[in-house]
Amino acid sequence: MSEITDVLKEIAAGKDSTPELLIPALEAEEENLSTLFEFADRQRKEFCGDVVHIRAILEFSNYCRCDCAYCGLFAGNKNLARYRMTPEEIVGTALEAAQAGYRTLVLQSGEDLWYTKERLGEIVREIKEKSELAVTLSVGERPFDHYAYWKECGADRFLIKHETADQALYDRYHPHSSYMRRLACQKELYRLGYELGSGFMVGLPGQTMKTLAEDILHLKELQVSMAGIGPYICHPGTRLRGNQDGSAQLTLKAVAVSRILLKDVNLPSTTALNIKGGLRDALNCGANVIMQKVTPSRYRDLYDIYPGRETKEMDLARQLSDLKYNLSQMGRTGL
Ligand code: 5AD
Repeated sequence: MSEITDVLKEIAAGKDSTPELLIPALEAEEENLSTLFEFADRQRKEFCGDVVHIRAILEFSNYCRCDCAYCGLFAGNKNLARYRMTPEEIVGTALEAAQAGYRTLVLQSGEDLWYTKERLGEIVREIKEKSELAVTLSVGERPFDHYAYWKECGADRFLIKHETADQALYDRYHPHSSYMRRLACQKELYRLGYELGSGFMVGLPGQTMKTLAEDILHLKELQVSMAGIGPYICHPGTRLRGNQDGSAQLTLKAVAVSRILLKDVNLPSTTALNIKGGLRDALNCGANVIMQKVTPSRYRDLYDIYPGRETKEMDLARQLSDLKYNLSQMGRTGL
């Protein structure tokens, strides 16, 4: 048996995983790369089957109080027109998505305190009352009583990525917060009974192979239900302008290793990876989830986290049936 297969089996066995164990898999090239991707694909099939979970994502506000070094929505960005959907618009769009056949809705925004604990709670409550949608919140760091309240209002899941497991790097790129604070939020959300989603960027300037391995190990430690892994894409309006984008291939390797280590976790082919042409590849090396935008077209351009996000909008039912058709052509079932 080849050396890489031994490494992958040891990762899958899940005992005493260390960065040193994961790094050779993340560095796999050529035949070893195919071995890695095929191993991850088999694990995906064994633990998740051929179903691809489709999540509708509604980006309901691009206001943000944070100053993340890599993100185009940073608070100090004066060159971005800001929008905020009203609670009526949000609930209306959610119900349209449910009508079109989506089963899960991710409500995502910048950290926008206009949506108070009560306002966002009412939005969740109304969506849960009027539809069968599973609701995921992705609204960043808040006081813990907000998280508890939204859970009572019916929110099912919460997505809050750790972004990078290198504490010093995290603190440098997030001047408004800290790694410890982010971790505390993740742990509290888990404790409250949310299905927790984390994730990180690949190729963030300053990230090493060891950090990347630690990023993956952090997912295991947190017992996440979901992990969004995407390449860093350089935004020219941010203080990290002029840096190189993260590699799509390295991102795929991180997805594959995460699948092998984490077994039945939900792994999306992230929007950032799809922009880099990695959708089909990701679904063949461990991913089992796709996010599809349901944000009204007049707002899509303005949710400018990173460049290259497509803005076309179709009728929601049509968009969903096209995706399901494309998945069926790959031997997979979109749900
Ligand atoms: N490149 C890639 N991903 C980014 N995100 C934010 N900015 C960038 C960027 N420049 C990701 C972060 C965040 C999610 C909403 O978008 O991981 O959690």
